[in-house]
Amino acid sequence: MKLAAPAPKATTRSALLRAGGSLLSGAGIPNAENEAIWILEFALGTSRLALRLEANRTVAASEQDRVMKLFARRAAREPLQYLLGSQEFCGLDFLVDRSVLIPRPETELLVEQVIQHNLRTRPLIIADIGTGSGCIAVALARALPTAVFYATDRSLAALRIAEHNATRHGVKDRVRFLVGDLLEPLRAHRLEGKVAAVVSNPPYIADRELLELQPEVRMFEPRVALAGGGDGLEFHRRLLSDAGEFLAPGGLLVFEVGQGQAGPLSEIAVAQGGYAQAGLVRDAAGLDRVVCFERKNSAKF
Ligand SMILES: C[S@@+](CC[C@H](N)C(=O)[O-])C[C@H]1O[C@@H](n2cnc3c(N)ncnc32)[C@H](O)[C@@H]1O
Repeated sequence: MKLAAPAPKATTRSALLRAGGSLLSGAGIPNAENEAIWILEFALGTSRLALRLEANRTVAASEQDRVMKLFARRAAREPLQYLLGSQEFCGLDFLVDRSVLIPRPETELLVEQVIQHNLRTRPLIIADIGTGSGCIAVALARALPTAVFYATDRSLAALRIAEHNATRHGVKDRVRFLVGDLLEPLRAHRLEGKVAAVVSNPPYIADRELLELQPEVRMFEPRVALAGGGDGLEFHRRLLSDAGEFLAPGGLLVFEVGQGQAGPLSEIAVAQGGYAQAGLVRDAAGLDRVVCFERKNSAKF
């Protein structure tokens, strides 16, 4: 005869917090205590203050189970953002799951760079290539209320998340999400020569660096969002060669790059011809992070 599993012992919020904190610190999570609090706040739908004020409150068995599963996932190095389903970007809250890259603060520099260029074309059309969670297109759409966006990704699961985020932030009517390879989906919309800016944070981790990524990234973020080929610049190269056809004369091509990639990318752009360098932005760590090119008026693609 099969015996039923024993009911978990009644436990308090503070005991659960201690159990989570030690599980996470044992797994090498640097900010273990705070992360345990954030997981508990999320799972119990409560606040840090309430956790402190009602530390001795008993947690129901079903809730205990849910919290312990979340602690276990985090101890296995799944990023906290996937557990909580949320990441802030440009002051907006984005839904994230394992089908999308977690938006990074450096990428906000790309958004700022596009805004600073004060694009005046009418209609103002911007293409976001490899949109993932939609963070770039959605943040730009909020900042540029007259612009319309075409956001592509080869992952349908990512586009579903991006669409949810566009709806959440009230810009769904101005962002078209298209599945396909890089700029290819723009063809069906006859956008050749009409796009004011092509922006992209493409996958840019060089093959040899993939294995050195921290476990959270290497094991849980989508490989299709990371792997950028031998030198990490495979997608930048393809975009430099294909974007000219879609950009209006004087249009911008704005890229995020990884450490040490800005120089080689500029050399590729010079060799390609048709572009002039139009900006370089360093991140908080002093690394060249955003590179901007302008399509020359006379360029033929
Ligand atoms: C580094 S992530 C960037 C996601 C988002 N734009 C951001 O900044 O957080 C790159 C994205 O490019 C997408 N991608 C990879 N290869 C692609 C391709 N050939 N065509 C279109 N999108 C692609 C991935 O699915 C992923 O969502």
